[in-house]
Amino acid sequence: MSKENIVVLGAGSFGTTLANVLCINGYPVKLWSKSQNVANDINQNHRNSKYLGDNSLSRNLRAETDINVAVNNSDYILWAIPTQAIRSVLSEYIDKLNHDHYHINVAKGIESSSKKRVSELFEEFGIDLNHFALLAGPSHAEEVVAKQATAMSSISLNHNLAKKVQEFFVTDFLRIYTNTDLVGSEMAGAFKNVVAIACGICDGFGLGDNAKSALVARSISELSGLVDYFGGSRETLSGLTGVGDLIATCFSKHSRNRHVGEQLGKGKDIQTVLSEMVMVAEGVKTCEAFHKIQAELPIEMPIVEATYQIMYEGQSVSDMIQGLMTRAAKDEF
Ligand SMILES: NC(=O)c1ccc[n+]([C@@H]2O[C@H](COP(=O)([O-])OP(=O)(O)OC[C@H]3O[C@@H](n4cnc5c(N)ncnc54)[C@H](O)[C@@H]3O)[C@@H](O)[C@H]2O)c1
Repeated sequence: MSKENIVVLGAGSFGTTLANVLCINGYPVKLWSKSQNVANDINQNHRNSKYLGDNSLSRNLRAETDINVAVNNSDYILWAIPTQAIRSVLSEYIDKLNHDHYHINVAKGIESSSKKRVSELFEEFGIDLNHFALLAGPSHAEEVVAKQATAMSSISLNHNLAKKVQEFFVTDFLRIYTNTDLVGSEMAGAFKNVVAIACGICDGFGLGDNAKSALVARSISELSGLVDYFGGSRETLSGLTGVGDLIATCFSKHSRNRHVGEQLGKGKDIQTVLSEMVMVAEGVKTCEAFHKIQAELPIEMPIVEATYQIMYEGQSVSDMIQGLMTRAAKDEF
C-alpha cells in the first residue's frame, strides 16, 4: 500500500526535524520553506544550518519554496509555523485546501488578537476538528534531530486520526502516545511557554532551585483552573503535554522561552532580547493572550500577570518577586 503524502509547512527547527523523521519512516514528504537559502541548504547540503546547525538530514528530504507546489497532492498538512502567523497563512491559502485534508499542528500558543487556541483558529476557517490533530510533548528539536529518545503525544478528537499520526512518527527513538484531550493539551502547551519565561527570569536574576520548583508547581495549579474552565481534563496535566513539557521547557538549555526570561532577569528589555533571536519564542505573545483571557474570567493567574508586567509594563524583577511572595496567605489546594 502506498504511503500518505505529507507536506510540512515551516522549515524552521521543528518543521525540518519532523519532516526528517517522516523521511526516515519512508513517507513522501515535502517541506515548505519561506526562505530560498534554507531550501537550498536542505536540498544541496542536506542540512538546515540556520535552525539546526550541523545536524545532517535525510538525503530524501526535499524543500520547496512555492506553497502551491508543496501542498499539491498532499493528504496531510503538518503546521510548524508560529501561532501568530497561522491566521495569515490560512487566510492566504485556504482556497487551495480541500475538505479531505487532515491537519497536524505542532505550534504551542494562543493567538493574541483573538485569544483562540490553534484548533479554534482552524475551526474559524471551516476545518472540521475531526480533521485536526496536535502533536505535542517534551520534544526539543535539537534532541529529536539527533535521534535522542523522546516521547510525545498525538492528540485528536478523532482517535483514528490520532492513531494515524502516531503511525507516521513512531520510530525507535520517538515513542508516540495517543490522547483525545485537545483543550487540555493545547492549554498546557501554550501555558508552559509563559512559565518557562518566568523560570528564566528566576535564573537570570540569580534565584535558586527552590524558587523555580515553586513556580513550576504553582503553575500547575494556575493551569488547572484554566483547563477546568475551558472543559479540558486535569489528567492531561500529569502527562507528557502537561508536566512533561513543563519540566523540559522550564529547566532546559534548549528552551528559547526560558532564554528570553533569563535575559529579562539579567536586566535586558524585551525588545532587545527579541531582536537578538532568530527563532520564535511563543511565550511572549501567548502571555499577552493569557493576560487578556484572565481579565475576562473569574480565574486568578498570578504567574501570567507577573510575567506580563515585566515584559509589557516594564516592572522590575525584584518588584515581581516581592509581589508574588507577599500575596495574601492561603491554602495550597
Ligand atoms: N523547536 C522545538 O523544539 C519545538 C518543539 C515542539 C514544538 N515547537 C513549536 O513549533 C512551532 C514552530 O517552532 P520552531 O521551533 O520550528 O520555530 P522556528 O522559529 O525555528 O521556525 C519557524 C518557521 O516558521 C516560519 N515562519 C515564521 N513566520 C511565518 C509566516 N508569517 N509565514 C510563514 N512561515 C513563517 C519561519 O520562516 C520558520 O521556517 C512553535 O509553535 C513551537 O512552539 C517547537
